[in-house]
Amino acid sequence: MSTAALLLLDDVLVAAVAVAWPVAAYALRRGGRWWALAPALVLTAARVGVAVALAGSGWWFAADRLLLAVPLVSLPALVVLYQLVRQAAAPGLLRQAAPGPGPGVDPRVVLLAAYGGLAGVLVALVVTHPVRPVHAGLVVALVAGAGALTWRGPRRPGKAGTAAGVALLCFALVWAVAAVSASRVPERLNLGAHAMAQPLTRGRPTVLAAGRAAGAPVRQVSTLREPPGAPDRRFTLTAREATITLASGRRVPAWTFDGTVPGPTLRAEVGELVEVRLVNRMPELAVTLHWHGYPVRAGDDGVAGVTQDAVRPGGEFVYRFRATQPGTFWYHSHDLSDPAVRMGLFGLLVVSGGASEAVEHTVVLHELGGAPVLAVDGSAPAEGVVRQAAEPGSRVRLRVAVTANTPALLGLSGVPYRLAAVDGRELTRPGQLRGERLRLAAGGRYDLVFTMPPAGAVALSAGNRLLVLGDGPAPAPPAGALLDITAYAPAGPPPPRRFDREVTWVLDRRLTLLDGLPRPAHTVNGRVWPDIEAPVVREGELIKITVANRGRDTHPMHPHGHEVLVLSRNGRPAGHLRMDTFDVAPGEVWEVALRADNPGVWMSHCHDLSHAALGMTFHLAYEGVGTPFDAGRSSGNHPE
Ligand code: C2O
Ligand code: CU
Repeated sequence: MSTAALLLLDDVLVAAVAVAWPVAAYALRRGGRWWALAPALVLTAARVGVAVALAGSGWWFAADRLLLAVPLVSLPALVVLYQLVRQAAAPGLLRQAAPGPGPGVDPRVVLLAAYGGLAGVLVALVVTHPVRPVHAGLVVALVAGAGALTWRGPRRPGKAGTAAGVALLCFALVWAVAAVSASRVPERLNLGAHAMAQPLTRGRPTVLAAGRAAGAPVRQVSTLREPPGAPDRRFTLTAREATITLASGRRVPAWTFDGTVPGPTLRAEVGELVEVRLVNRMPELAVTLHWHGYPVRAGDDGVAGVTQDAVRPGGEFVYRFRATQPGTFWYHSHDLSDPAVRMGLFGLLVVSGGASEAVEHTVVLHELGGAPVLAVDGSAPAEGVVRQAAEPGSRVRLRVAVTANTPALLGLSGVPYRLAAVDGRELTRPGQLRGERLRLAAGGRYDLVFTMPPAGAVALSAGNRLLVLGDGPAPAPPAGALLDITAYAPAGPPPPRRFDREVTWVLDRRLTLLDGLPRPAHTVNGRVWPDIEAPVVREGELIKITVANRGRDTHPMHPHGHEVLVLSRNGRPAGHLRMDTFDVAPGEVWEVALRADNPGVWMSHCHDLSHAALGMTFHLAYEGVGTPFDAGRSSGNHPE
């Protein structure tokens, strides 16, 4: 069974166990026989089995279960089982003399199991990996407290019992108040504080430990910018409101660059110096330009509150970067990114690395006005079919990008093709595909290359959206297996084995405090923005990142300013695959390597931007690099 299926089964068992024990307790009271306990015992055994199986997929998936939730219910369950067996083995006379109702089982132990089963629900809602001692302590104390009350029966508790109960309640109350206030995003939050040899407004000790070599000068991200020089390409992008007319004629309000969604495609050649002037004509919204996946220098990364202050209405900002990397990339605003990108503040960046004989089309998959749309070559976004002429025998390159918050399931039919590039990085010698379906992460890009057949059409499908190239009826979308791109990528130079630092991101969804409010947040290592521990790296280091997804959502992880080399997916070594947005599906474990070759303070987050807004945002810091910009409540910047 896959890890995702085990996680799902475990959720079902948590609920079933929580119901089964109270039901058993009730049945016993009404004079039920031993088999009234059977469902609860069987379900508990199943829960133990699933937790053990999950441990086989990785300790991240099982620790909270095996150390906390499962013992709380399975230990009393074992006692119940023991009492049942003892009773069954006893001689007839004794059996009749057994104390208590029904099958000689102490009903208080059954109630204890019921508390344990209910605690399992609590654990499933709030505890993740790593298990925090305070969470574990509170859950155990709750079960123990309820158990103690049950044991004593209706008698009034003694002095010691009352004192313990009051102490526990007081502790829980103080802890809750402290936790609420600690979770509030501070007025000012400086993500470069590690470099200033001063505590982060809220930081974890290990962050500080790696802070700054004594006496080393601090560089500010605002100085880490492209050196002056005459630009080879100049663009101006103006953020403004507009009403977009979809191909169907439907009109949707949008936030745009230059009045279109997507914004204009910016094209450059490798080696060129690109200058982009951002002008903000939005009535109220602050904007920035972030170059998604592009290795710009830190000062041009366009993250409000980290690499610059958000550009207010009426303001301007000039970005410059050297086009060093050919490929398909995109840009988008990075202040309140979720609404900004959803409403249309994005466009493509295409860098070509020399002459290409292929006819190119850009295909952007987004969601506008609640409907999935496809925008081809900057024409009106369409909810359905888009047709383009294509010469039989011509070479075609489709540059496909998902700018929506959810991945797209792609299919190319009518011709064999190659997945030539992933996230703008060319694959060497990619194999031929035909009939497979491709999953493209939110924020990710694929380049598909093929030769038009001598007759008939070729179709790219994404759900109901269709791009048809050439004449004739569209071929049916492929129904083949989902391609594992990590296995498809051909082998390259041997992957690194030694790393300077290793970090683990365990992704989950838990009920937790986000900015002072209990929310079903998306967590990394049990924490949410701005409390997720930021790795602090030294320039030149090679970092190994292990990402395990315990939740039920897919998380396209996106570290800014760097590409990652995929090492393995679910334990299977990957081909030579470099990405900037890698989609970690539920139950998956990815290992990637990141070369710290671009000093700065870099955001890192899930590119389902609604998840980023719900906590899944953190950063990667370099030793000795600070920022003069602040995030936080009163800063006017919203880097998430
Ligand atoms: Cu497209 Cu911070 O990302
Ligand atoms: Cu996510």
